[in-house]
Amino acid sequence: MSLPGHERPDRWPEMEPRPDRPYVWVNCAVSADGRLAYAGGTRARLSSPEDLVRVQQLRLRVDAILVGVGTVLADDPSLRIHRELLGEDPSASHDGPRSGPLRVVLDSHGRTPEKARLLDGKQPTAVLTVERSARRFPPHVSVGAFGRERVALRPALKWLLRKGTRRLLVEGGSEVISSFLREGVVDHMTVYVAPVVIGGRTAPSMVSGRETHDAEEAVPLRLVDVVRLGEGALLTWSAVPKKPSESAVEKP
Ligand SMILES: NC(=O)c1ccc[n+]([C@@H]2O[C@H](COP(=O)([O-])OP(=O)(O)OC[C@H]3O[C@@H](n4cnc5c(N)ncnc54)[C@H](OP(=O)(O)O)[C@@H]3O)[C@@H](O)[C@H]2O)c1
Repeated sequence: MSLPGHERPDRWPEMEPRPDRPYVWVNCAVSADGRLAYAGGTRARLSSPEDLVRVQQLRLRVDAILVGVGTVLADDPSLRIHRELLGEDPSASHDGPRSGPLRVVLDSHGRTPEKARLLDGKQPTAVLTVERSARRFPPHVSVGAFGRERVALRPALKWLLRKGTRRLLVEGGSEVISSFLREGVVDHMTVYVAPVVIGGRTAPSMVSGRETHDAEEAVPLRLVDVVRLGEGALLTWSAVPKKPSESAVEKP
C-alpha cells in the first residue's frame, strides 16, 4: 500500500536519542474537532486503513511504545505489531516469544488491571510508577519508580534510555500527551485527522492536563508536513524551543 510521505525510508527522521532521554515521537488519531475518543472516553477507531498500516510501520521503528494508565483502562491495548496489516503472515513471525518493542505504561497508583493485555507476558513490558507505590507486578514486568505523586518523566526517560530504549513512541492518551509536551520532551508528533466530528463536552481532546492561560504558556510547534492519507490527513509537527518572552529579552 502506498503511503505518501512514509513509504520512502529517507522521509523517516533520524530519531537520534538525546544524551539523557530517548528520541520521543508522539502519535495519535483525532477527529476533525480534535477529539481522541467518544463521550466519556469510549474508544473511537479514528485511523483509516492507511493510517493503521503507517502506525504498524512506525511501531517497527521504535524500541518502546508508551501509554498512560487511562488508555489501558479505556482501551486495553496490546501495543503489539499487527504484522497482518503489513501484508505479512502473523503465524510466520520473525519474532521469538516476548520480542518486539518494550510496552510501557505510566501508572503511579497501580491501577493497571491484572488481566490487562499489556501484562500478558507476550512482549517485554515495563510499568513506570512512583516511589511509594506498593503494587506488585508479575516477574516478567520491569518496574521503575520515579517521583512522589505522579511519575516524574525526565528520570523515567533516562531510565528507559539506560535500558536500551533509544526511540520511544508515545501513543497517548490526552493527559500523557499533555505531560510530554509541557515537559518539553517531544521531538516529533504525527496526528492523523479523521473526517468526522465528535463534539460534546466529555469526549477527550488530544491534549488535556494543565490549563493554558495565555500565549506564554502555550506549547509552540513547527509544521513539518501535511499529507492526505485515505479520507483523512496526516499532520507532522516538530517541537520548537520556546522563545524567551519579550520582557525577558534584554533591551538595548
Ligand atoms: N485516538 C487515539 O490515538 C488515542 C490513543 C490513546 C488513547 N486514546 C484515548 O485517550 C483516552 C485516555 O486518555 P486519558 O487522558 O484519560 O489517559 P492517559 O493519558 O492514557 O493516562 C493518564 C494517566 O496516566 C497516569 N500518569 C502517570 N504519570 C503521568 C504523567 N507524568 N503524566 C500524565 N499522566 C501520568 C495518571 O494516572 P495515575 O495518576 O493513576 O498514574 C493519568 O491519569 C481514552 O479515551 C482513549 O480511548 C486515544
